[in-house]
Amino acid sequence: MLSKKKINKIKLLNNNKKFRLDKFIELALFASNGYYLRNRPIGKKFDFVTSPEISQMFGEIIGVYLVYHWKEKINSKFNLIELGPGNGTLFKDIERTARILPNFFENADVNLIEINKELKEIQKKNLNYFRQKKIRWSKALNFKSKMPSIIYSNEFFDCFPVRQFLNENNHWFERYVKFNEKESRYYSINKRVISKKILDYLSKYKKQKIYEVSYSRNKYFEQICKYLKRNRGICILIDYGYNKKIKNFTLQAIYNHKKTSIFENIGQQDISSHVNFNELIEIAKQNKLKINEFVSQRDFLIKYGILERKKKLLTKNLNLNKKLLDEEVDRLINVDRMGNLFKCLVVSNL
Ligand SMILES: C[S@@+](CC[C@H](N)C(=O)[O-])C[C@H]1O[C@@H](n2cnc3c(N)ncnc32)[C@H](O)[C@@H]1O
Repeated sequence: MLSKKKINKIKLLNNNKKFRLDKFIELALFASNGYYLRNRPIGKKFDFVTSPEISQMFGEIIGVYLVYHWKEKINSKFNLIELGPGNGTLFKDIERTARILPNFFENADVNLIEINKELKEIQKKNLNYFRQKKIRWSKALNFKSKMPSIIYSNEFFDCFPVRQFLNENNHWFERYVKFNEKESRYYSINKRVISKKILDYLSKYKKQKIYEVSYSRNKYFEQICKYLKRNRGICILIDYGYNKKIKNFTLQAIYNHKKTSIFENIGQQDISSHVNFNELIEIAKQNKLKINEFVSQRDFLIKYGILERKKKLLTKNLNLNKKLLDEEVDRLINVDRMGNLFKCLVVSNL
């Protein structure tokens, strides 16, 4: 549950009236005692496990992909930017893989975008590269550089707050949050949408019963697209998400590996939502970027060689446990596990 101070902060901010769902999520995740500012969420012992934490092969495949694109299309000084590096595992695996082409890191100006101070310290501890060369950490992306950029992320875009709309008999309602003073808990209510601007926007979705949108996510991605367009570069993002109509809202809370209500364990549990890839693709197209890839995580990893990599690891190191490696790869590519739910979008102007 939120601390008294935090509850007061939210109530104060909103005059104890109802407030928008995305504001609630933003506070629960990013306020000074919100989840992403004070917790260590990732890893088998913590709230959730991500692909780089499952297998080194995930980062190796991405590493080869990045090195190839840099060599073929950039081959000069560039920004290498990871969004939300978590424990630093993906960067570590990319760095090891990229040694096949020493010029890659010699030309890289590395910038890690991390909002969580504790994770930043863990990244410093885990990254050998940091001890040899400079890495810049920032809380937000800086769009000033004029160099070409390679930007990549895994499970970053699912962290952005969403708004939820419901269509009942052609009337749109938006989900809001209220605080119940007596029971000291939050609950949700629906408020009829009256803003003409929002109704005009929603008219595109009038055949749908529900519509979930993250304006902040779309805006962040749009800034990346404009930045790439100005300076050349490529953005590879992997996240769980969809490109078809959804029947149910995707917002979810995870506490200790289990799904919970977003109103429980506030500030101590992850709240995330599936990425609407259609909207990101639309934004990239509007900014005249090329869609290099839009495939499931399964197809991406297989296309770029995870099965061959597994074989190679097993023949190179006879001590490796084949069953374990099979299980890791299965978890990443099986359509009933992470294979289909996770998607890979690559946009560029290279
Ligand atoms: C779900 S974790 C994924 C971590 C890592 N990429 C992985 O796959 O293991 C999200 C990461 O993004 C960071 N993060 C979330 N929102 C952020 C934001 N708006 N700005 C910077 N970092 C953010 C979190 O602190 C965390 O490191």
